Amino acid sequence: MENTQDPQNTQSALPNALPGWLRGLSARLLILTAVFVMLSEVLIYVPSIARFRLTFLEHRIADAHLASLVFKVTPDNVVSKSLVLELLSNAMVRGIVLKRREVRTMMLMEEMPPKVDVTYDLRGAGAVQLIVDAFTTLAMGDRTLRVVGSFPDQSAGSLDVIVDEALLHKAMIDYSTNIVKLSFVISLLTAGLVFLSLRLLMVLPMRRITASMVAFRKAPENANAVIADSRRGDEIGTAQRELRHMQDGLRTALTQKAHLAALGVAVSKINHDLRNILATAQLVSDRLGEVEDPTVRKIAPRLMKSIDRAIDLCSQSLSFGRADEAAPNPTAFSLRALVDDVAGSAGLPDDGSISWRNLVGEDMVVNADREQMFRVLINLARNAIQALTPEERQGDISIAAEWGDTGVIIEFSDNGPGLPERAREHLFEAFTGSARAGGTGLGLTIAKELVQAHGGDLTLLSSGDPGCSNGGTVFRIELPGAPP
Ligand SMILES: Nc1ncnc2c1ncn2[C@@H]1O[C@H](COP(=O)(O)OP(=O)(O)OP(=O)(O)O)[C@@H](O)[C@H]1O
Ligand SMILES: [Mg+2]
Repeated sequence: MENTQDPQNTQSALPNALPGWLRGLSARLLILTAVFVMLSEVLIYVPSIARFRLTFLEHRIADAHLASLVFKVTPDNVVSKSLVLELLSNAMVRGIVLKRREVRTMMLMEEMPPKVDVTYDLRGAGAVQLIVDAFTTLAMGDRTLRVVGSFPDQSAGSLDVIVDEALLHKAMIDYSTNIVKLSFVISLLTAGLVFLSLRLLMVLPMRRITASMVAFRKAPENANAVIADSRRGDEIGTAQRELRHMQDGLRTALTQKAHLAALGVAVSKINHDLRNILATAQLVSDRLGEVEDPTVRKIAPRLMKSIDRAIDLCSQSLSFGRADEAAPNPTAFSLRALVDDVAGSAGLPDDGSISWRNLVGEDMVVNADREQMFRVLINLARNAIQALTPEERQGDISIAAEWGDTGVIIEFSDNGPGLPERAREHLFEAFTGSARAGGTGLGLTIAKELVQAHGGDLTLLSSGDPGCSNGGTVFRIELPGAPP
């Protein structure tokens, strides 16, 4: 049957929603890598801008401390205005206030001290607070700040500086711009490298694999469509090797299937015409049965039996060739009567060398396709008779049935030699299960298929086991259902 869903259509449905250049795996990886690198740069930027602001302000405190040393060389603490301005401009601050506990407050200040908008105490400020302050500075940028720090020499007291926020703001903006430029370059470089390596390591080999899959799907018989072997030890290498095994296996199976199909057609044709020829032979042999000659009378039944068997074989092979064995048509029937019917048609020897014991209860009524169950039992019966025929001792075939938990269980036993090793290995396999000269190896296969079509199973229970009561073979048929 033709697959209604074209895999290529399903494949292209999603990617078509995206612009062409974005459809490939590598382009998407390139963009994702760039975005992730930018994202990590942003995460790094947040603490580093806070750190930058703290360092800037700490430098102002340190510069102010240096400037304040001027008091040490002026005994009367009087400093000229021009020197004050020069000291303040060098320290990049607008005013310095020194408070030592034991010494009075001293200050260096512009002539018109500016009005302070906000005070920041750098001593013991927490990380989160520093980040918040940094972003406030970035947002405002034009306030006058009073920054409180401690003396660099760890002595008691504090050092205040008045700073123009604009100075700090400009430095922070310059720093941020540099970071943005740098992250851009880094993310592009990283993305490019990731892109190239992924392309070489994954995308190109994946393309080779998909191309081979598509080519193989289109023409599985083409040997060139099979992917080359890979020496890679990673997952791609494994995928490539597994694909190759799969393609090899599929091609072999395909060739075998084609051979079998051709063989099947040939066998069916031969069977069909052979059946017609045999029908004529049957007519002639029926007439032979009427001849009075004792020799002819003796051999005619055997001839007729052989022809019957040959016709049966043709019919069986033909019905096996048909993929659609008719579905079972269940009716309620007496199993005991069916077993009797089978005994009549199985070709039991007239000399009584094989006894047929029907142990099925009178009241055993099962619900199944009677015709198909007949075929199942007659195949088992013929096998048993064939196994028992050259035996010296008295042959015995017995059929018993009882109700189990899920349905009826039929046990078909004989006291023959058991299954030969070769038959056991391929039991229930068409054409390979036979270990008998002239056997086709279809009997048990057909029987099992028929029972399985009923939802049951045919299994070999024991064969030639020394522990078994008669040492022969026991097949078990399980048919689902319940006593009526
Ligand atoms: N009751 C049995 N005792 C011993 N061997 C058996 C018995 N039933 C089956 N076998 C073995 O299993 C093989 C497979 O049986 P199966 O009925 O599938 O094929 P077949 O009898 O060889 O050919 P056909 O298609 O004509 O039935 C037989 O060739 C035979 O060797
Ligand atoms: Mg058979």
